[in-house]
Amino acid sequence: MIGIFDSGVGGMTVARAIEQLCPDYPLIYFGDIARTPYGSKSPETIQRYAVNNTKFLVDQGAELIVIACNSAASTALPTLNDQFDLPILDVITPAVQQAVQVTKNGKIGIIGTRATIKSTIYEQGITARRPGSKVFSQPCPLLVPLVEEGWLGKRETKMILRRYLYPLRRRQIDTLVLGCTHYPLLKQLIAPRIGRRVQLIDSSIAVAHTLRTFLAGHADPAEKLYQPQAKSRFFVSDLTETAGQLAAHIFGRPITLEKVNV
Ligand code: DGL
Repeated sequence: MIGIFDSGVGGMTVARAIEQLCPDYPLIYFGDIARTPYGSKSPETIQRYAVNNTKFLVDQGAELIVIACNSAASTALPTLNDQFDLPILDVITPAVQQAVQVTKNGKIGIIGTRATIKSTIYEQGITARRPGSKVFSQPCPLLVPLVEEGWLGKRETKMILRRYLYPLRRRQIDTLVLGCTHYPLLKQLIAPRIGRRVQLIDSSIAVAHTLRTFLAGHADPAEKLYQPQAKSRFFVSDLTETAGQLAAHIFGRPITLEKVNV
């Protein structure tokens, strides 16, 4: 099984994208709702959570891990690679690759949690691949709680987005990386507020493409992971009122969430 984790429901945008591109590869999802948000916590704490989550997924039979959380990927990828002997894909590298491919004027905006923006991982990745690029970053700490609350179309969410996006608009970016897997749920609100000519990079879709390419090029573990009859399972560390609704919204069908203690 392919193991995927996030701090909450945001990583389900990645799970959905993978399900659409790699339908015969079942998933084990873990959303750490009890401890969300990660993005406002220290790197040490996020690393500890990421190790716990990966252990849980491996115990459930995961043979490949997708870190469907930018905050965890930006702080914990080296730790996970040190501690676990299995392939680990992250959401950041594919988004960086896509951003440098699509930008024309080299002005790229990044929105993400405080942890992700503070790590400067996007700036480093972008300027290494496209020297001379100008990267403008904006932490958006209020967006994850708004999404987890299901406030996807509320006036308050629109106002907060306008405020976060204004500085990036002024920089005349032509590409904006949604550097948090919760943000694809706000895409319809972000697009008109940043300007229709700005290309949005959705890291959930980017990582699904990377996974498909990885599976095509690696018979081991692809053959083990190919289980067309098996069903995906979705675990959470807390069952909130909105989690099930958001999961159904993302997948377009009811999703059974199983509560576990990790
Ligand atoms: N979806 C996570 C990310 O991509 C949200 C992090 C958080 O819980 O703050 O960064």
